[in-house]
Amino acid sequence: MVKPVTQFACSDCGALHKKWTGRCDGCGAWNSIQEEVPLSQGPSKKSLGTMKGKRMALTDLATEEAPPPRTLSGMGELDRVFGGGLVPASATLVGGDPGIGKSTLLLQAAAAFAQAGHKVIYVSGEEATAQVRMRAQRLGLGDAPVKLAAETNLRDVLTTLEAEKPDLAIIDSIQTMWVDTVDSAPGSVSQVRASAHELTSFAKRFGTSVVLVGHVTKEGQIAGPRVVEHMVDTVLYFEGERGHQFRILRAVKNRFGPADEIGVFEMTGAGLAEVANPSALFLGDRDAPAPGSVVFAGIEGTRPVLVEIQALVAPSQLSQPRRAVVGWDGGRLSMILAVLEARTGISFQGLDVYLNVAGGIRISEPAADLAVACALLSAREDAAIPPETVVFGELSLSGALRPVSQAENRLKEAAKLGFTAAMAPKGCKTGDAGEMSLRLLPDLATLVGEVFGAG
Ligand code: TYD
Ligand code: MG
Repeated sequence: MVKPVTQFACSDCGALHKKWTGRCDGCGAWNSIQEEVPLSQGPSKKSLGTMKGKRMALTDLATEEAPPPRTLSGMGELDRVFGGGLVPASATLVGGDPGIGKSTLLLQAAAAFAQAGHKVIYVSGEEATAQVRMRAQRLGLGDAPVKLAAETNLRDVLTTLEAEKPDLAIIDSIQTMWVDTVDSAPGSVSQVRASAHELTSFAKRFGTSVVLVGHVTKEGQIAGPRVVEHMVDTVLYFEGERGHQFRILRAVKNRFGPADEIGVFEMTGAGLAEVANPSALFLGDRDAPAPGSVVFAGIEGTRPVLVEIQALVAPSQLSQPRRAVVGWDGGRLSMILAVLEARTGISFQGLDVYLNVAGGIRISEPAADLAVACALLSAREDAAIPPETVVFGELSLSGALRPVSQAENRLKEAAKLGFTAAMAPKGCKTGDAGEMSLRLLPDLATLVGEVFGAG
């Protein structure tokens, strides 16, 4: 028998190390390396080919197979993010900051599935059953036929699940579960990995949909291993800014549907309410058009969403001016500032720049470049963009504007919300723009000349 080799794993990124170090080479985190006993002893030296296994049954691609039936919860935003309902025998990971509303969301989802006639078990490792029941009653879900348990020993959880054979099992959270064959504390990399492995293989064997809740570290990764993300079929992130009531459920990986799909919820006194028309919500409390404010027509997943981008430019007292961004990528902001300076001669030297995406949503689309550039120019020149105008387009380093996808959908959504004009890159497939007045721009210099009167 081979002696199990101890190894050291980073609790942030899961990278493996031969010996303990203070700093992880993988992600650069300090003090995140923990000792762990590996699950298996790895491949043995002997080739598998010498000890033959049994023949597998092979099929071809043309074999007709019905698509997996999907279970609908009746919560439209949730079903959309799952890619049109929950798939049986699938494993899903729902990650998010502590306190963002994961338990609330999943309790409501559990109640919705149970009321739709499915058998649902909710295992809480963090709260006592009385606490979960109290929350359910406060949410008005007291009479939903959800079965509750408070348990952290995975052997007991699996035994119960095997006996009950539910359609949906929710494990809140994976960091609290422990497997008695693994010799480390709950929440450690090896425990989380072993628990996730047991639960996903349970899902495949018994046809149960398993949903795991995972906490996110302050660096934004699911605590412990990214490894869990590889094991499950679907990874959803529940995100939102503290102090905003909007919560966004985002699919970052989905084997059964589109990734990048979002569902929008609003945290109310009575739990999470679905927001069917996010654009109206994100623009809802918009003030009168002011310099530095631009409406971006974006696409989140399969759905167009309008958001307001705000910029503030002010003389700096610092030798190195501030560049602060909320809801967008800081690196991309530096790039746009550099392109503006190089291609149009408009410099932001000696100026602090603040950029904010209103409403607490995070934008990752490059199509927001033009809207950001417009917001920056508008703030710097103190000239408001004409009201009722939406903007979208990608910026290349040469200063040229690049067409983006789904222009027609973006324009339709804007028209629906009462916008009458749009600025977009030349060459966008705008289709039938209807009443919209379109301004198609080839590059940044034209934008500066036409819209901001040559800067
Ligand atoms: P919770 O679901 O416990 O978060 P997580 O499981 O992600 O840690 O959500 C807790 C927060 O949600 C808490 O700060 C209060 C808020 N909340 C409401 O505003 N309204 C509600 O009806 C509920 C149940 C929670
Ligand atoms: Mg919780």
